[in-house]
Amino acid sequence: MATRKTVLITGAAGFLGSHLCDRFIKEDYKVIGMDNLITGDLRNIEHLFKLENFEFYNHDVSKFVYVPGELDYILHFASPASPIDYLKIPIQTLKVGSLGTHNLLGLARAKKARMLIASTSEVYGDPSVNPQPEEYWGNVNPVGPRGVYDEAKRFQEAITMAYHTFHGLETRIVRIFNTYGPRMRLNDGRVLPAFIGQALRGEPLTIFGDGSQTRSFCYVDDLVEGIYRLLHSDYAQPVNIGNPDEITIRQFGEEIIKLTGTDQKLISLPLPTDDPKQRRPDITKAKALLGWEPKVSRSEGLKITYEYFKSLPEKEILHKDFTYYNK
Ligand SMILES: NC(=O)c1ccc[n+]([C@@H]2O[C@H](COP(=O)([O-])OP(=O)(O)OC[C@H]3O[C@@H](n4cnc5c(N)ncnc54)[C@H](O)[C@@H]3O)[C@@H](O)[C@H]2O)c1
Repeated sequence: MATRKTVLITGAAGFLGSHLCDRFIKEDYKVIGMDNLITGDLRNIEHLFKLENFEFYNHDVSKFVYVPGELDYILHFASPASPIDYLKIPIQTLKVGSLGTHNLLGLARAKKARMLIASTSEVYGDPSVNPQPEEYWGNVNPVGPRGVYDEAKRFQEAITMAYHTFHGLETRIVRIFNTYGPRMRLNDGRVLPAFIGQALRGEPLTIFGDGSQTRSFCYVDDLVEGIYRLLHSDYAQPVNIGNPDEITIRQFGEEIIKLTGTDQKLISLPLPTDDPKQRRPDITKAKALLGWEPKVSRSEGLKITYEYFKSLPEKEILHKDFTYYNK
């Protein structure tokens, strides 16, 4: 009988981390989740606590990280990820991308584990090419409000690549484009939960600027499949994973109004500093290297996500202010 592989997933109580835990449990791995719950929620993984092949450590990965026993893989997904989060906790954001990544690379080296890091389309900043291929170096303002996130992620890629080239560590870098699905927080400030939350509360949907800026939304199951394939590939350079189906924010708002069967209006507020005007992944590499492309259409994915948000307790839907559940 083959021995069970062990994977450490940081950010396990968050949106993406919890879906990754589910996937690796399904593939019969031993899963060790780690999270300090700064933006995560234990409810996302509470169904796993009864399993003998799941363990959880409540720990800040910006501090020294140790886990006993063998480790085959580390997936580093811990980081504040929405603009509201990283503007509220900028230093922790910089630390988890830099010190946290350094700690986990050290652990990966000690355990001879393969490490995959969650990078982001934000490394491209406000891009001057569309769609964005991996070869594009980006247009990032290091001292703007988004710099804490974008530069943490750029540093994270740089140090990961240095461990690969200098120490020969097995590393993988996924550049994730906007992903959505159940377990997102309704109040995390990202456009999709923001629109659905506003529709559920009967409020107008807020667009920033004239709404002509574009985004491309990937359903979480598609993303998880891409990450799973990348981890098991032999490719150490960054790979974009996202859905190239691009839409303007205004059209997206109209889609949400139709989906929720409400008759809300769109209202416009001033555009925030350094807001990217266009966002669409070039997924040529993922297709060629991993045989991957997204399968879930936006209409299908949105229906599932809307049902999830509708099923939340009413007080969460009505609660508009941003909160850290555990802080
Ligand atoms: N969701 C997306 O569309 C998207 C896009 C690009 C990149 N990413 C990346 O994917 C990862 C997960 O994002 P998400 O959307 O699931 O966000 P999330 O906020 O739901 O999850 C992040 C998790 O990390 C935990 N965390 C943060 N700092 C920590 C620390 N120092 N120690 C331990 N745990 C810590 C949080 O408590 C939370 O559970 C992040 O690295 C993010 O940058 C996400």
